[in-house]
Amino acid sequence: MKVLVTAGPTREALDPVRYLTNRSSGKMGYALAQAFAEAGHETLLVSGPTELDVPSGVDLLPVESALEMFDAVRRHLFRMEAAVFCAAVADYRPAKASAQKMKKGDDSITLEFVKNPDILGSARKEFGFQGTLVGFAAETQNLETYARAKLLRKGCDLIIGNDVSKAGIGFDSDRNELLLVYPDHSESLPEDEKHHLAPRLVREIERLEATRKQ
Ligand code: CTP
Ligand code: CA
Repeated sequence: MKVLVTAGPTREALDPVRYLTNRSSGKMGYALAQAFAEAGHETLLVSGPTELDVPSGVDLLPVESALEMFDAVRRHLFRMEAAVFCAAVADYRPAKASAQKMKKGDDSITLEFVKNPDILGSARKEFGFQGTLVGFAAETQNLETYARAKLLRKGCDLIIGNDVSKAGIGFDSDRNELLLVYPDHSESLPEDEKHHLAPRLVREIERLEATRKQ
C-alpha cells in the first residue's frame, strides 16, 4: 500500500520566537510509520516537530503548523490507499501572528484564537479520499462515545481511541492502551509498548484495505 501517516504536535506561531503547542511526543505515529515500512508499505510521514529519528524506509515531510499540515495532506492524499491521522493538531491558532517579537507592556493580555481546519475531517468531504481512513481520539472521559462520534463525523473506517487521563500511557509515553472503534463494534487492546501495538494496528489496517478493495 501507499500510506500516509500524520504525527506529532503542531506549532502555532504567536510571533517569531513564541508558539502554542501540545504534549504530543509523536511516538505512536512514528512507531506506526516504522511498522508500515517494515511491512513493506510505501510510507509518507507528515510530521510536526518531534525529537524522534525518522524510521528507516519512511519518507518524511516535516511541517510546523496545522495549516502547513493541512496543505501537505491535501497535496499527497490523492495517491494514497490508506491514511492514518495520529497528529495532535492544535484545534486553534492565534488569530494573527505578529511579524515582530511582541513586547512586554500591559499587566495582562488577551489573545484571540481562530479554529484550525480539521484535516482528518476534510479527507472524505473536501479531498474526496476513498481509501482506508483511520483516525485517533485522545480523550479524558467517555472514550467509546466520543471516539464513535468522531468515527461518524469524520467518515473513518476505524478510530483508535486512547484514554489520556490514565497515568503512564498515551501522551509522551512509550506505552499505550487502545480501544479500536469500528462502525459496527469495538475491541480493546490491553496496555503494551507502542512498538508492539503498531504492527498489530498495521495488520488491522491491511485487513480493512483488503476488504475495501473486494
Ligand atoms: N485531527 C485533524 N485535524 C484537526 C484536529 C484533529 O486531523 N484540526 C485529527 C487527529 O489527528 C485525530 C482525530 O482528528 O486523528 C481526532 O482528533 P481529536 O483532537 O481527538 O478530535 P477533534 O475533532 O479535534 O475534537 P476535540 O479535540 O474537541 O475532542
Ligand atoms: Ca482536538
